[in-house]
Amino acid sequence: MRQSAPPKTYRVKSFGCQMNVYDGERMGELLTDKGMAPAKDGEDADLVVLNTCHIREKAAEKVYSDIGRLTKNGKKPMIAVAGCVAQAEGEEIMKRSPAVGMVVGPQAYHRLPDMIDKAVHGERATDTDMPLETKFDVLPQRRKVGPSAFLTIQEGCDKFCTYCVVPYTRGAEISRPFSALVTEAERLVQSGAREITLLGQNVNAWTGENAKGQAIGLEGLIKALADLPDLARIRYTTSHPNDMSPALIAAHGEIEKLMPYLHLPVQSGSDRVLKAMNRSHTADSYLKLLDQFRAVRPDIALSGDFIVGFPGETEEEFRETLQLVDAVGYSLAYSFKYSPRPGTPAATMDGQVSREVMDERLQRLQAALNRDQYAFNKQTEGRVCDVLVERKGKFENQWLGKSPWLQSVWFEGDVQLGDMVTVDMVEAGANSVRGRMVEKVSA
Ligand code: SAH
Ligand code: SF4
Ligand code: F3S
Repeated sequence: MRQSAPPKTYRVKSFGCQMNVYDGERMGELLTDKGMAPAKDGEDADLVVLNTCHIREKAAEKVYSDIGRLTKNGKKPMIAVAGCVAQAEGEEIMKRSPAVGMVVGPQAYHRLPDMIDKAVHGERATDTDMPLETKFDVLPQRRKVGPSAFLTIQEGCDKFCTYCVVPYTRGAEISRPFSALVTEAERLVQSGAREITLLGQNVNAWTGENAKGQAIGLEGLIKALADLPDLARIRYTTSHPNDMSPALIAAHGEIEKLMPYLHLPVQSGSDRVLKAMNRSHTADSYLKLLDQFRAVRPDIALSGDFIVGFPGETEEEFRETLQLVDAVGYSLAYSFKYSPRPGTPAATMDGQVSREVMDERLQRLQAALNRDQYAFNKQTEGRVCDVLVERKGKFENQWLGKSPWLQSVWFEGDVQLGDMVTVDMVEAGANSVRGRMVEKVSA
């Protein structure tokens, strides 16, 4: 690689889950600390970081086509490939794509500034280590100022569901220490966050020690954060059914700032498929868990993830998924066609399901989920609830915010980003609710 001038501007493009969004923000902070500025909208950046996701197919192809686009017409930005594709296929990318100056895995991106210095001198570098010293120990202070912020508290996964790449790309489960998290949350609140969403691949597996040295779980961390006076809302995602503790369930009935929303992926309603997926819960144990949440928080909104067409899934087994959906009544859910991932056990299992069958099942599942999402929105009509103002709408005076149940609510009013307002929920749509502002609760 040739020598190049030190980059002055950067752009980070994040794909995939919210943890990648968080990592993307932190990379931006690192680069800003190094004296670089974010490229303006519509302008080319000197350095582009592709913060990739490997969860479903065509992930790598997408990276190559992005690189192609960035280098069109003889353009030569410095390109860094980060994220989960970097971890899984970094060496391959380096070989195939000379335009890429550096590859950095999700646990090593704190070393990005050094890699840039090397790239300036024409040295290409790959760093997919999972070092003992964690990136969190060396990342700069938070600068985020939006009303709703992400905070990664747990990373990695030891569950090894047979279809999933995450344990390979993100490594083993680790919990960040309590004191570091409280400090980061305080910083976020000082910089304008009113809501914090705690993130982890298995966020409810988080454990730590509180200020008194007592062992605590996620509920203990949530309680401590709820004491921050200017923090209005706390959420967490994504949970695993097997890590749900009675104390965390109880917290939903006790902590007012903990929002009535739970994202708890189930993947399938068939016990045979769940077993083949290595989920180690059953459809029934999952439903019983949800009942416990409803007992302490009757209005809780429930969300989940589904995979259709896992190898060997029969029509009958797929119908069990539809039955589970009917039994739960999700407010919002994510559903995917099974995608064989290289190196995972399911990729070589017998009974791979055809594309046509997967398409058809996905359509039926999504029809049921859309029906329930609309029904959920509909039953909130006529309620008055708090909405945190998070975005400007398309029209003058129009604003978008989130209800406690994570619905998008739009309304008109004289407000600012970060205000908490009460809104009368007037008209439900498929994906949002139109509201009428009643009053400002706090600015
Ligand atoms: N740790 C979380 C989810 C992480 S991945 C959990 O276990 O709940 C997010 C979602 O992507 C999963 O819940 C699953 O529904 C989907 N997913 C993961 N691997 C997949 C694959 N190989 N094909 C299709 N969907 C997949
Ligand atoms: Fe993947 Fe399963 Fe871990 Fe979730 S729990 S990240 S689906 S292996
Ligand atoms: Fe994708 Fe990695 Fe997240 S594979 S979903 S970016 S953990």
